[in-house]
Amino acid sequence: MADPRLDSLLQAVPGLRLKTDPADLEHYGRDWTRRWTPAPLAVALPADAGQVQAVVRWAGANGVGVVPSGGRTGLSGGAVAADGELVLSMERMNRVLGFDPIDRTLTVQPGIALQAVHEAAREHGLVYPVDFAARGSCSIGGNIATNAGGIRVIRYGNTREWVAGLKLVTGTGALVDLNRGLIKNSSGYDLRHLAIASEGTLGVIVEATLRLTDPPPPTNVMLLALPSFQVLMQVYAALRERLQLEAFEFFTDRALHHVLAHGAQAPFAEIHPYYVVTEFATGDERQEARVLEAFEHCMDSGWVSDGVISQSEAQAAQLWRLREGITESLARHKPYKNDVSVRISRMPAFLEQTQALLGREYPHFDVVWFGHIGDGNLHINVLKPDGLEDAVFLTQCEHVTRLLAATLEEHGGSISAEHGIGLVKKPYLSCTRGAEEIALMRGIKRVLDPSGIMNPGKLFDR
Ligand code: MLT
Ligand code: ZN
Repeated sequence: MADPRLDSLLQAVPGLRLKTDPADLEHYGRDWTRRWTPAPLAVALPADAGQVQAVVRWAGANGVGVVPSGGRTGLSGGAVAADGELVLSMERMNRVLGFDPIDRTLTVQPGIALQAVHEAAREHGLVYPVDFAARGSCSIGGNIATNAGGIRVIRYGNTREWVAGLKLVTGTGALVDLNRGLIKNSSGYDLRHLAIASEGTLGVIVEATLRLTDPPPPTNVMLLALPSFQVLMQVYAALRERLQLEAFEFFTDRALHHVLAHGAQAPFAEIHPYYVVTEFATGDERQEARVLEAFEHCMDSGWVSDGVISQSEAQAAQLWRLREGITESLARHKPYKNDVSVRISRMPAFLEQTQALLGREYPHFDVVWFGHIGDGNLHINVLKPDGLEDAVFLTQCEHVTRLLAATLEEHGGSISAEHGIGLVKKPYLSCTRGAEEIALMRGIKRVLDPSGIMNPGKLFDR
C-alpha cells in the first residue's frame, strides 16, 4: 500500500475496504463537474455506520479531509476530491432497512439510488415523490446532502419535506439520531434540518427515514409551444388555476435543438422559441374539459402557439424526454451551469433583466435556458465553443455570474436553487447569505466538525 497513512487507517478500522488504483481514484474523485483533476488519497467503502465512525475518528486524528460520496451526479463539485482527501463512498451501504406501514416511512442506507427508493415505496403501494432525471445514478444520501429538488417540487416540495429522521456521523465521529421519524417534535433545535443541504460539511449521513405518500392520481402530459418569454408565467398561472399540476417545466429552442441532436423526436413541425412540458391530474370528464378550457384560454390569449397532449404512456415518456434529456445532451459541450432561484412573484422581472444581461454579455456563446420555472428555479447552461480554451471560457462565465449574482441579490434570490454550493458556487455565497448568516454557518461547522475534516473547502473556506 503506497501511502503509509493507509496502513494506520486499516489498523484503526479492521476489515475496511479500500481502493487505491489510479482508475478508481479518478472515478471516485469527481462528480459530474469536470473542472477539477481528481487526486484523493484513497477511497474507503465502509460496510456500516460503525466503520464510518471509525474512519472519521481516524481522519480527525490524522488531519485528513473526508469527502462523503454517493452517486457523484452533483453539478457543483460537492463530491470532488482533488486535494488528497479520503473519499468515503457509501456505495456498499445501499439497503432498505425497513418499512413501517403505520408511519408510512421507509428507512434506508445512504448509498441507495433514488430509483431504488421509488421502487421500494411502490412495492408497498406508496410513493416517494422527489424525482429528477439522475434518479438511476444519484443516491439518497447525496439528495439529502443537497436538499435535491427536481421536477415535482411544485406539488411535493424538496427532499427536506420528506426526511422524517436522519442518523448522522458528525466530524467528531459521534453518531446522532436526529428527529427519530417523529411528525411532531418541539424539543429544541431540529439538527436534522441542519444536516439537510449541508453538503457533507457537518458529517456523514448513515441512515435516513423517508416519508412516503399516496400514489398520485392518473396524470397526463402536455407540451406547449410559446411565442415569447413574457407569457411564460401567465401560462403557468392559467394552468395552475384550472388544473392540479404535478410539474411545470420549461426549455428553449436551443435546448430542444440539442436534445433532438441527441436522438429525441421533434414534437412539432415548426420550431418555436419556448416550450413548456406540464403534467397534471386527469381521468374524469370534468378534468378533461378543464384541460381543454385551459389550453383554449392560452391559445385565445396568444400565449401558446401549439400544443400536444400525450395519448399513451409511451408518448408521455417521449414528451418528458425533451426536458429530461437536456443535461445529458449538453454534457459533451462542457457547459458552465447556473442554477438560480427567485420567488415566483419576482420571476417575470428577474427573467426580463437576466435575458437582457445574458444577451449583452454572451453575444457569441450558445446559452441554453431551461428549468423548473413553476418553483422559481432557472437553469442557465452556457456551452463552451469548440476550440476555446477552458480557462478563457471559465473566466468569461465567472464574470457574467458575478453580474447575475448582483441581479439575484436585487431580487432576493439564491445562487443555488438545488445543485448546492460545493466548489463551483462558493465565490457567490454572499449574494444569497448575509455576512452574519455565513458567520453563524461557520460557527455551526466548528461545533459539529471541530477539526475541519468534513468535506473541506466546500460551501466556504475555513
Ligand atoms: C436539470 O434540472 O435537468 C438539472 O438540474 C439541470 C442541469 O443540468 O443544469
Ligand atoms: Zn434541475
